[in-house]
Amino acid sequence: MTQDELKALVGQAALQYVVPGQVVGVGTGSTVNKFIDALATMKDRIPGAVSSSVASTERLRAIGIPVFDSNEVERISVYIDGADEIDHRGFMIKGGGAALTREKIVAAQSERFICIADESKLVEALGRFPVPVEVIPMAAQRVARQFAGMGGVAKLRMKDGQALVTDNGQHILDVSGLAIRDPLAFESEVNQWPGVVTVGVFAHQKAAVCLLGTAAGVKTLN
Ligand code: 5RP
Repeated sequence: MTQDELKALVGQAALQYVVPGQVVGVGTGSTVNKFIDALATMKDRIPGAVSSSVASTERLRAIGIPVFDSNEVERISVYIDGADEIDHRGFMIKGGGAALTREKIVAAQSERFICIADESKLVEALGRFPVPVEVIPMAAQRVARQFAGMGGVAKLRMKDGQALVTDNGQHILDVSGLAIRDPLAFESEVNQWPGVVTVGVFAHQKAAVCLLGTAAGVKTLN
């Protein structure tokens, strides 16, 4: 199976976690796009979605699923999103699609995080994928120096020759070379650096379940 087919497989499998009659939290990325396509088949059974990005909002609305502002919704039973890396404990690196801040907000508002990913995303230890960090632009270079002090190399994410601007008007640093032995402690520490909006380690908002697309079918990791 191609990687695209594996993504479609887990996107479809995630439908079993959507609770009829309740708002669903929707993440961002190519795997989530497959989930959104599958969600079209049950759009008449849910009131709508809370979305983690402008891109997902547009895709949901295009198939006729109402999208609510997160402030309008108190409780989300389930949040479905992809990952750039996930380990066996459900800790993840996310933000490859630059949507990490809104993803963390919707995840925090949700009772359960269901991660959908193809098997290439499962790792023994987090850190091969450069950690995305959303930063206030004026803090970018200072935050980069703080990562250098930890042995990391931070690169400003670019798009069309300019610094990428997130849905929140901020920039992204992609940090490689980090040894993330304790994801909970790492997330807590980086989160409190001045100018950091969100660090793309999801340890406090980890996945409860991971649906992993493999050549043998969907594996469920709890
Ligand atoms: C976006 C994300 C995505 O979930 C992550 O990058 C995985 O994307 P894809 O499903 O396209 O591999 O965190 O910010």
